[in-house]
Amino acid sequence: MTLDEDANHANTGRRAVKAVIPAAGLATRFLPATKAVPKELLPVVDRPVLQYIVEEAAAAGISDVLLITGRGKTSMVDHFDRQPYLESRLEEKGDTERLAAVRRPSELAEIYTCRQGEPLGLGHAVSYAESHVGGESFAVLLGDEFMDETAPLLPAMLDLQAKTGGIVLAFIEVKPEETKRYGIASVEPAEAGLVEGAEVVKVTGLVEKPKADQAPSNLAVVGRYVLPGKIFDAIRRTKPGSGNEIQLTDAMGLLLDEGVPAHGIIYRGLRYDTGMPLGYLQAVVQLACQRDDLGPEFRQWLGEFVGGFGGRSG
Ligand code: G1P
Repeated sequence: MTLDEDANHANTGRRAVKAVIPAAGLATRFLPATKAVPKELLPVVDRPVLQYIVEEAAAAGISDVLLITGRGKTSMVDHFDRQPYLESRLEEKGDTERLAAVRRPSELAEIYTCRQGEPLGLGHAVSYAESHVGGESFAVLLGDEFMDETAPLLPAMLDLQAKTGGIVLAFIEVKPEETKRYGIASVEPAEAGLVEGAEVVKVTGLVEKPKADQAPSNLAVVGRYVLPGKIFDAIRRTKPGSGNEIQLTDAMGLLLDEGVPAHGIIYRGLRYDTGMPLGYLQAVVQLACQRDDLGPEFRQWLGEFVGGFGGRSG
């Protein structure tokens, strides 16, 4: 079957319009900060991480977002709700700028939620989306990373998936010592001209978190996926894998073995990984430096502060 025939068979050629954000994790790396506050609501300058992610989805044309939440994380949903009392106070004061900022999250997309009772892995989390997305293709955006808004990745992934009807992943190149933190792919050159301007490769295999000497390449799966509806059946057939969890990587591997086309786009833009304290701090500093309002003063202060460490080792 050619790609086009397969696309007709598996997909209507329509771009996915729904996204799923798994966000039920316990965030142990950020304790005690995340004891009562979900890590997805930690602020990067003045917006929570999760808002950047929903903004990224909305900018790519996604109008429907399902948040997979867990115990103690309902405040994530409140962030995307209206706040009539706060809004009327700001309106009375004529503070139109803050009013717009408060309303913005509720205007981005339709937000739906469901609860993952027990965190048994990323594949398990995604399986909760089945009744919401039905048989259609959909995007998965992990709740602790986002891409630079001036170098978007999701639109090209959605275009590619609408063409192939299969699995579409995003890759970054990592150092050998980093392969154990990611799903790693084996790849070969893709058919020419699939998506203009994107570096597309064909995926031939996937391994979850291999050691450097077992990694098939240096291409690591990052937290953006566009998946066909048949992933749900594959997740049901997936046995616990790395970390004794139901891995999305393993479910995608099953589909790959069954001939479902899988492609990846190599991303070379800025990616903010807020899942760990160091990456989180880097995101805050980078985004603060870019801000028109805070940037000039913050950059000057930062230069002087860092300069003050010159010659000191700790
Ligand atoms: C998950 C996936 C892994 C992927 C990573 C990207 O791992 O299982 O394949 O490379 O996200 O951030 P986690 O970070 O949830 O352990």
